[in-house]
Formats: sequence, structure tokens, C-alpha cells
Amino acid sequence: MTGTKKLYVKTYGCQMNVYDSERMAEALGAEGYEQVDTPEGADMILLNTCHIREKAAEKVYSELGRFKPLREANPDLKIGVAGCVAQAEGEEIMRRQPMVDLVVGPQTYHRLPKMMEALGRGEKALDTDFPEEDKFVHLPGDRKVRRGPTAFLTVQEGCDKFCSFCVVPYTRGAEVSRPVDRLMREARDLVERGVREITLLGQNVNAYHGAGEDGGEWGLARLIRAMAEIDGLERIRFTTSHPNDMEDDLIAAHGDCEKLMPYLHLPVQAGSDRVLKAMNRKHTAESYIRLIERIRAARPDLALSGDFIVGFPGETEEDFQATLNLVEEVGYASAYSFKYSPRPGTPAAERAPVDPSAADDRLQRLQALLTSQQRAAQNAMVGRTVSVLFEKPGRMDGQMVGKSEYLHAVHVQGPSDLSGRIAPVEIVESGPNSLAGVLK
Ligand code: SAH
Ligand code: SF4
Ligand code: F3S
Repeated sequence: MTGTKKLYVKTYGCQMNVYDSERMAEALGAEGYEQVDTPEGADMILLNTCHIREKAAEKVYSELGRFKPLREANPDLKIGVAGCVAQAEGEEIMRRQPMVDLVVGPQTYHRLPKMMEALGRGEKALDTDFPEEDKFVHLPGDRKVRRGPTAFLTVQEGCDKFCSFCVVPYTRGAEVSRPVDRLMREARDLVERGVREITLLGQNVNAYHGAGEDGGEWGLARLIRAMAEIDGLERIRFTTSHPNDMEDDLIAAHGDCEKLMPYLHLPVQAGSDRVLKAMNRKHTAESYIRLIERIRAARPDLALSGDFIVGFPGETEEDFQATLNLVEEVGYASAYSFKYSPRPGTPAAERAPVDPSAADDRLQRLQALLTSQQRAAQNAMVGRTVSVLFEKPGRMDGQMVGKSEYLHAVHVQGPSDLSGRIAPVEIVESGPNSLAGVLK
């Protein structure tokens, strides 16, 4: 089918949304939509949204407001909201912003073609079910389009952990793992299309327990080892993990699976056991620290990343000190930290909040510590040789950029045919957000 209609997709939130946006664009591609980079002139605008914090959710409404002139210029323009805000707020979105024609949740976007038919008849469409069927089975097969060197692949969705602050179990639903044979097929297909590095995705990716090719249930480590056998696939990563699902074979894989990169995002959220309990994290600071020791024993050069929440209801200055102590003890190569944001429908949202200025102050102090650790980790790379998978030209003339095995952004002066290749690079300079190097 020819792509005569223009589709603009904007993605917020986590990598799973990035993956979903690609799949939605593919599904609409089969309906004759071609993806464009700007909303101006588009026939359809789709916002793939995130509900994790209040700010993220509110962005959707301000962005929708900005489309008003486009809609006035083109009354046939269709506007859709997908993703986690769609799931959480459903019809409320159409009430607050009547311009919206379509609302589709993260588990029903395989039904987009049907919903588009309704839009074609001048109706509105809303689908935020948690259907029995697997959306991935019903999505159109991959088109043989060339891809960049890196790709995401969702292997597991949803979450059964119910941390008391988090909307994900409500917006994404229960934990489901995709079967191994489909994932292997998708991975091989990505590699044929030029992909060299695959990041396996899941809200709780290390809880993966998919139906194996041998009839048994496979864990994430076994899936990674099977993917490592694919010729042409050079690098494997996975995100995001929960400390309680970091099983022995996955730790071992960090030591003995060459294609598994030495980088791990393992959020702990807080360093106080009292707060961790109130968060329903089901681990302690101590058990997390012991776990990190075991992973580092398997892979001493592992770059560790994490997520933190400050100002959780009931958090005292002493609790916060425990978070700082944990950060000091563990040492992070990179980390994300957030001020607690009460989310409707979650247990913690019912609890008394901490003083907002105390929360702001804690966030600043934590971020200062995390930034200094990140800088130190980056500066320590100067003089070392890393292997870089080059992705694309940089901003400067003759510059190529890519990622090291530790996920640092690295740029060099080099030929454009480096794209998609892995090459050794000696790091000569450490900038605020990237490393500069020379090809060896
Ligand atoms: N599934 C992942 C991450 C989910 S969301 C995990 O379990 O680690 C990404 C991060 O957003 C979380 O790790 C947490 O640090 C943060 N987050 C989630 N809900 C939040 C809230 N209500 N307020 C502030 N930060 C939140
Ligand atoms: Fe949210 Fe906790 Fe599940 Fe992560 S493990 S998605 S933080 S409920
Ligand atoms: Fe946001 Fe949904 Fe991902 S709430 S972080 S887009 S799972």
C-alpha cells in the first residue's frame, strides 16, 4: 500500500513507549500512513503518553493545546492519545480536550486499524481494555525496512509488584512474558535489518519467564544466552530490573556472556528500610548492597545505574541520610532521581505528604552527590580504551557518535561508514554529557 497520509508520533516516558510507538507506526503504516517528523501538515497526530509523575501526565494536555491551530487549519486532522495517560484517564481526556478523536491504551493498539475505520466514519474511538489476546500476535509483521544499529525489543510487559507509589501496574496491567520463539524471530529480523545491539525491555524485565522453545519456562538469562547465538547481533542489554528478580543465572551471565554489556540499571528508590517498607519494595538497603557486591564479583567493571525517589510520604531527614549513605557506599555511574509525585489510585497517594521545600532540598542534595559520582566515573575513563558501537554522525563536521559498552556517549573524528560498526576508541576527554576519543 502506498503511504499517502502523514502520521506524526510523539513519544513520552520510558523505552517501552518508544518500542510501542514504532509498532503503532508500523500498524498504521499498513493502513497507508507514512511517518513524518513534524506535526505541521500531518493527517494524524498520535501522542504516546506517560503517567508516571504528575508533570509527565500534564505535558499531554499542554501539548494537545498546541495542536489547536493545526486542527483549525485542517478540520480533517485526527488526533489520538495512546499510552499510559490514555489508560489511566480514558474518557476524561476527551472531556478535557474535545479535539481528541482517539484514545488507545498500551494493550490494545493492535486494534488501531479498526479504530481508524470508526474515525473515518466521523466517530470517536476509545479502547482501554486489557484484552485476553496478545497484541503482538495481532500486529502486522515487520516490514523489511533498514534500521539503525540499535533497537529495543519488549520481552515482558506489566508489573505485579505494586510499589505503593507507582502507576505502572494499573496502566500496563499484569505481568506477561512473550514466548521465546517469537522474540527470537523478532531479534533475527532486527539483525537482518541492520541492528547490532538489542535492548530487551520490560517494566520488570528480569522477572521474564516466557514459554521456551523446548516447552519449558525460560528466564531472562536463558533468553539472553539464546540471543547471543545470533550471528551479527553484537550487543545485548536489558532494562528495567527489580532487585528481587536478579537471579543467580542472570548474575552469572554478566560474567560469562560476552555479548551482554557491562551496564545494569537496578533501581533501589531509597536507602532507608522504613521507607522501602512503606514503598512496598520488599527488599532492604542491606540486601540491595549485598546483591550489588555479588553482581560486581561476576563483572567487576560493571557500570551501575539506578532510580531514586525523595520526599516519599513519611520520609524524615534521617531516612534521607540513609539514601545518601547508600549512594556513597554503592557508587553509581549514572542515576535518575525524582521528587515523589502522588499518583491517583496508588496507596501512597493517600498518605500525608512531606513538606515540599524539604523534598526540593533533598532532591538537590541527592542530585549533587549523584552528579559528582557520574562525573568521577566519566573522568576515570580518560586514557582508557573502550569499544564503541557507532550510531550516527555527530553535530560537528566529520564527527561520529556512538555508545561505549558502559553506555557512555562517545564521539570521534571518523568516516561516516563507521555507522553500525564497533571500533576501539581511546578516550581523551570527558565532557559534561559525553566522552571524546580517538579511533585506535
Ligand atoms: N519498573 C521500573 C521503573 C518504573 S518507573 C522499576 O521498577 O524500577 C521509573 C522510575 O520512576 C521508578 O524507578 C521511580 O524511581 C520513578 N517513579 C515511579 N513512580 C513515581 C512517583 N509516583 N513519583 C516519583 N517518581 C516515581
Ligand atoms: Fe512500578 Fe515497582 Fe513495578 Fe517498577 S516494580 S514498575 S516501580 S510497581
Ligand atoms: Fe510512563 Fe507508562 Fe513507561 S507510565 S514510564 S510510559 S510504563
